[in-house]
Amino acid sequence: MAKDCSPPMAFDAQAKRRFRQRLLAWYAKHRRDLPWRKSKNPYRVWVSEVMLQQTQVETVKAYFQRFLKEFPTIKKLAAADEQEVLRLWEGLGYYRRARQLHAAAQQIVEVHGGRFPSDLKTLQTLPGIGRYTAGAIASIAFDKRAPILEANTIRLFSRLLAYRGDPTKSAGQKLLWQTAEEVLPRKEIAQFNQALMELGSLVCKPNEPNCEECPAATICLANEAGLQNTIPIAAKKIKFTDVNEAAVVVRKKGQVLLRQCVEGERWAGLWDFPRFELESEGPLFVHDELVAKVRQQTGIEIKPAALMTTIKHGVTRYRITLDCYEARWASGRVQSTKAKPVRWWPTKSLADLPLSTTGRKIARLVARPL
Ligand code: ADE
Repeated sequence: MAKDCSPPMAFDAQAKRRFRQRLLAWYAKHRRDLPWRKSKNPYRVWVSEVMLQQTQVETVKAYFQRFLKEFPTIKKLAAADEQEVLRLWEGLGYYRRARQLHAAAQQIVEVHGGRFPSDLKTLQTLPGIGRYTAGAIASIAFDKRAPILEANTIRLFSRLLAYRGDPTKSAGQKLLWQTAEEVLPRKEIAQFNQALMELGSLVCKPNEPNCEECPAATICLANEAGLQNTIPIAAKKIKFTDVNEAAVVVRKKGQVLLRQCVEGERWAGLWDFPRFELESEGPLFVHDELVAKVRQQTGIEIKPAALMTTIKHGVTRYRITLDCYEARWASGRVQSTKAKPVRWWPTKSLADLPLSTTGRKIARLVARPL
């Protein structure tokens, strides 16, 4: 094993006891008043935890409240149309989460009679519920003695143990899950697990952690060694790739042409304007490419018009320059199949359809007359 990856020291029983007491006392004083903390209802805990995967607390608050207002119970969510669920998720990203949430609600109603399972194993048979989410629901909603490990606690435990390895690799994951299990108290699991995440989020922050205010400072090995700014090790820098894409707003008598993104695509389930990578360099040949690619995606012949706008945005490692063109229907009928739906939508209906973030920006421009 490389020198800088040597296994860290584990906590002794006394350090664990001290840590639990101080953490719970700190949480009682500093916990945020978040909308999903108002009740232990497993449905609410589940929705919040799914939203909090990959999304900041501040962003989640409003989405959570809107979602619960529209779907106050698991039965209401199960009975909803997937399009409605995706429309409420719009802007949160990672839309697979929403589709899995919907599918899991249906499974809970059909297989479990609408009652939320409480044991880790059954929870993990539901779409989108992995080890972390199962642990969060079992502990927060049912007070079961289940460990959790997510971004905040990965950072917190890595620092407490001064773990110099990569916490995302299997050796690091094994060690940190084991730690999450070993630090659990016998009682007050719901409070304890939330306190861990809260401490990671408010004090043991990614940059410049606030060690002076940390209830675990005296047992934190990274703090003792002055390594709190270098542990956990930085994630590899992303190498960005520039891509030029085009989206085409094809109009016909108060309608626009949209295709639904299919399974395996980033925005599966959402509707989008015909969109593709642009190969032409310079404006001279772009119109021919737009005609050919819209024909290929939809079966429609178009007459391209002006460039409406250019949107710059990032998706994973791609830096995308999206040129948005106007076009008019020239001839042809849509080629639509169940596997690849394409259809004309009245411009007015765009407000109710789930669209990607850039799709929504374009839709706002489309609302203006040509
Ligand atoms: N991140 C993920 N789950 C969380 C929770 N329940 N509270 C605060 N931050 C979180």
